[in-house]
Amino acid sequence: MKPRFVDPFTPNRPIDDPSRFFGREDSVNELVDSLFQFANNNPKHTIITGDRGVGKSSLLTQVFQTAKGDNQLTDRLSIDRGMSKYNFLCVWHDVDSSQGTEEVALGILQKFDGELKRVLSGVNIEINLGEFVKLSPDKAAKSSVSAFVDQFTERLCKLSRKATEQGKNGVLIFIDEIDRVKLDSGVSTFFKLTCEKLSRDGVKNVGFICAGITGAIQKLEEEHASILRTFRDVPLLPFDEDEVAEILMGGFCVAKHSCDITELKTKLFEITIGLPEPTHLLGSEMLSVDTDGVLDTSDLENAIRKIVTDVRKNKLTSILKKAGTGKYQKILEAMASYEKKIVPLDFISKKIGQEQYQFSTNMSTLIDREVLSKPSIGLYAFCDPMLKEYIRTFGVLSLEE
Ligand SMILES: Nc1ncnc2c1ncn2[C@@H]1O[C@H](COP(=O)(O)OP(=O)(O)O)[C@@H](O)[C@H]1O
Ligand SMILES: [Mg+2]
Repeated sequence: MKPRFVDPFTPNRPIDDPSRFFGREDSVNELVDSLFQFANNNPKHTIITGDRGVGKSSLLTQVFQTAKGDNQLTDRLSIDRGMSKYNFLCVWHDVDSSQGTEEVALGILQKFDGELKRVLSGVNIEINLGEFVKLSPDKAAKSSVSAFVDQFTERLCKLSRKATEQGKNGVLIFIDEIDRVKLDSGVSTFFKLTCEKLSRDGVKNVGFICAGITGAIQKLEEEHASILRTFRDVPLLPFDEDEVAEILMGGFCVAKHSCDITELKTKLFEITIGLPEPTHLLGSEMLSVDTDGVLDTSDLENAIRKIVTDVRKNKLTSILKKAGTGKYQKILEAMASYEKKIVPLDFISKKIGQEQYQFSTNMSTLIDREVLSKPSIGLYAFCDPMLKEYIRTFGVLSLEE
């Protein structure tokens, strides 16, 4: 038996250890610039966008830590902070799909309430949450949205004054998975009005730093307001082949395993499509199936088998079910048979024997259901690259089902 070791890969949670955060120099630099601008009364509300599993929450976590005075990442990347360290009053809010704009706003204020008690103990500041709860705008009456924004902003202004008095750089609100907010809850309008009001009131060291899935953010765009016009966008792209190899080798070294990565590199990139989430999953499982401390092709194959038959079986089965029956399954089967990660529509059309217009609605539905993504016009890919391996192993659901 191999000696037990701590798994260096974390497919199920964002990277919090700055020394395990790989690459992303340009994006970190952009976000540090946002921090610097806020600290100098020049608000740059920012949103990190990208596909699921590309590393948004990890980056947001790193910036959160930096904003609270942790210099490890910026020091390692030699990024100029413009000051010795940041000292913002920060809260972190995770949006879930049961929340509308009001719940998000209330959640943020509740967290400040807790944070104030923790970091500014002895400071007396009344956020007046009780009053705020009663303010939820009546959905029918449009006018009350601005009253709600006024109340929210008023509380942020108070926080800003207190933070400044306490020698802080300002007040930052980190929101992860902002795209999960209820679609009809006017979140874009809310942010637009809040940011405008803050600016009118001369409160320029209060800001939002958010993360969300690209396609879903685009769906939040409304008639008069747009998240992407209010926020500066920092799009995250998947890693390239060498970067995927480096992430894996980094973990393998920590776990004291060796690997001839040049041999596996291309295959690893093909499977993970450059997303760090499947990269970590694969790394973790390769270490778990290996028996001799040397990682090779057979470990890779065994790891994939273990992922689709065991570790991720339930998740992948439910994605496949969510896709829909009949034609939907045929489309996925066709896509899994293509040798590359990005599949041209033309190939699917030939494979399923239908003209493109006959299944274009199905393709849009598969995107809405978060089964497929559309990297560009006429090109499609699986959101979870492991689904392709799953279909290759088990096939699709029986077409009559
Ligand atoms: N810069 C990075 N370096 C190394 N691993 C990363 C990096 N970004 C993300 N990961 C890994 O990828 C997985 C998915 O990242 P996460 O930040 O949760 O993605 P997202 O929020 O975009 O879905 C995490 O488990 C994390 O371990
Ligand atoms: Mg995330």
